[in-house]
Amino acid sequence: MKGLWNSASIIPVTLCFILLSIYYLKDVLAAPTMHFLCRPEQRDTLLALENEFHIGKLNYYCQPERIDSHRKTESWGNNSDCCSWKGITCNAKSREVVGLDLRCSFLHGRFHSNSSLQNLPFLTTLDLSFNDLTGQIPYWIGNLSNLIYLSFSGNHFSGRIPSSIGNFFHLTSLYLSNNHFTGRIPSSVGNLFHLTYLDLSDNQLSGQIPFSIGNLFHLTLLVFSSNQFSGQIPSSIGNLTQLTFLQLSNNQCSGEIPSFFCNLNQLTTLDVQRNMLSGNFPIALLNLTGLSALSLSNNQFSGVLPPNISSLSKLMDIDASDNAFTGTIPSSLFTIPSLLFIGLSDNTLNGTLEFGNISSPSNLLELAIGNNNFKGPIPRSISRFVNLWRLDLSPFDTQGRPVDFSIFSPLKSLEDLDLSYLNTTSTIDFNDILSYSKSLSYLDLSGNHVSTTNKISVADHRHIA
Ligand SMILES: *[C@@H]1O[C@H](CO)[C@@H](O)[C@H](O)[C@H]1NC(C)=O
Ligand SMILES: *[C@@H]1O[C@H](CO)[C@@H](O)[C@H](O)[C@H]1NC(C)=O
Ligand SMILES: *[C@@H]1O[C@H](CO)[C@@H](O)[C@H](O)[C@H]1NC(C)=O
Ligand SMILES: *[C@@H]1O[C@H](CO)[C@@H](O)[C@H](O)[C@H]1NC(C)=O
Ligand SMILES: *[C@@H]1O[C@H](CO)[C@@H](O)[C@H](O)[C@H]1NC(C)=O
Ligand SMILES: *[C@@H]1O[C@H](CO)[C@@H](O)[C@H](O)[C@H]1NC(C)=O
Ligand SMILES: *[C@@H]1O[C@H](CO)[C@@H](O)[C@H](O)[C@H]1NC(C)=O
Ligand SMILES: *[C@@H]1O[C@H](CO)[C@@H](O)[C@H](O)[C@H]1NC(C)=O
Ligand SMILES: *[C@@H]1O[C@H](CO)[C@@H](O)[C@H](O)[C@H]1NC(C)=O
Repeated sequence: MKGLWNSASIIPVTLCFILLSIYYLKDVLAAPTMHFLCRPEQRDTLLALENEFHIGKLNYYCQPERIDSHRKTESWGNNSDCCSWKGITCNAKSREVVGLDLRCSFLHGRFHSNSSLQNLPFLTTLDLSFNDLTGQIPYWIGNLSNLIYLSFSGNHFSGRIPSSIGNFFHLTSLYLSNNHFTGRIPSSVGNLFHLTYLDLSDNQLSGQIPFSIGNLFHLTLLVFSSNQFSGQIPSSIGNLTQLTFLQLSNNQCSGEIPSFFCNLNQLTTLDVQRNMLSGNFPIALLNLTGLSALSLSNNQFSGVLPPNISSLSKLMDIDASDNAFTGTIPSSLFTIPSLLFIGLSDNTLNGTLEFGNISSPSNLLELAIGNNNFKGPIPRSISRFVNLWRLDLSPFDTQGRPVDFSIFSPLKSLEDLDLSYLNTTSTIDFNDILSYSKSLSYLDLSGNHVSTTNKISVADHRHIA
């Protein structure tokens, strides 16, 4: 029900980046590997590595690709050319194993500190993501200093992220999401100058986000969501001018959003929801004219929403619900033609509601402004939001005014309508409201005078409160 911001849609976004980069690397590395034999000592190393793990169940996140998934290691050892084994890529000249892709490979077991993996120093790609591996990342991982792509995402790795990851001088992608890593991010992360993707989400990392993160000038994706980071968001993030996707949601960060964020002019998604951030609406964000999704919800922001918010002219989704914003909604917000989702419920917005010059035709799908302190008439121009499927105005103090409910009749796509507690003397004709939209599945009219001209059909199993 919450636009782009439910976790079910955020996870695929992250996965999508991972898949894109994997397919990109596949193209780069897919050298013909059939015509030469691998080095015997590397074959033995791979077979020893295979023996370190058991075959378990397919990781939950691999289900969508089930058809493509196979126990890659099953074919290992059937012939002596390890370069032809599934998941293995060799350098055509040196015959060294340079790529190990065991993503979604049913691997189960503990990653040992003496794992044979340390004997594959020429690896440039290492993907053990979406298996069922436990244990810690050993310090020697930093000796695999040729790595440009490392993913351990979607396992049960624990312990600290070793500072030796700072040795991945060529590293462009580092994915450690969905594990049980604890402790701070080592400040050596600032050595990974070539990093373009960094995803540490869904762990138990804590402490402050290191200031050195500002060195990673090439980062385009930074995902630190769902950890226990605290303290201020480092202003150095404002140096990451290539960032397009920044997600810090679900942490305990406090203080204001740094004004240096005004430099992030490539940013299309900023998600800081579920933290303890405070201060006024971050004016710096109004410079990010490419922003399409902004979530500030579930923080402690206060003050008014700025009238020049419409400078975010590409905005599709704004969620600032569950804060302490006050004043009214700047009517310029409704002039942004790309806007699909507005979530401003659970604030202390007040005054009268005005929609101003609504962009025409309005594309808005969701308008959730309930649990505020609006007073006065419901603007008739609400009838111009003809594509709305969710509208929540409740409660809305019309101060005993009559309400002409036919203003809702053009909203033919409504699925979810909350008009409870309007403080109006008018009586709502229940059957009229039902007739406006065939898709209505949730309707709340409680706290109002409601009449029914006909009996409700027993076949009507829509959820009516
Ligand atoms: C490899 O050999 C094993 C048994 O030796 C067999 O079960 C498996 O199907 C073989 N895999 C391939 C890809 O040939
Ligand atoms: C790693 O060490 C353990 C004992 O600590 C041993 O049982 C295991 O065989 C070793 N594995 C490798 C790959 O050397
Ligand atoms: C890793 O590199 C360090 C320093 O180069 C070296 O002392 C150490 O033996 C290496 N560890 C392994 C497991 O190769
Ligand atoms: C990044 O921005 C900060 C301001 O927050 C600045 O002091 C610093 O010199 C910049 N450079 C780096 C590499 O962090
Ligand atoms: C942000 O926008 C304001 C107003 O348009 C402008 O004065 C300022 O220079 C901009 N800052 C940056 C960093 O682009
Ligand atoms: C928006 O308005 C504020 C003042 O309310 C101003 O400081 C800021 O520079 C403006 N930003 C843009 C991008 O217009
Ligand atoms: C809205 O609330 C703020 C803060 O409580 C108050 O200062 C302001 O006068 C209110 N505005 C209106 C129009 O009621
Ligand atoms: C309303 O917006 C339309 C197009 O977006 C524009 O042509 C019209 O002049 C605007 N009207 C007012 C009163 O601002
Ligand atoms: C409803 O409106 C009346 C008339 O303005 C007002 O006295 C009353 O406080 C309002 N009730 C609520 C619950 O807002």
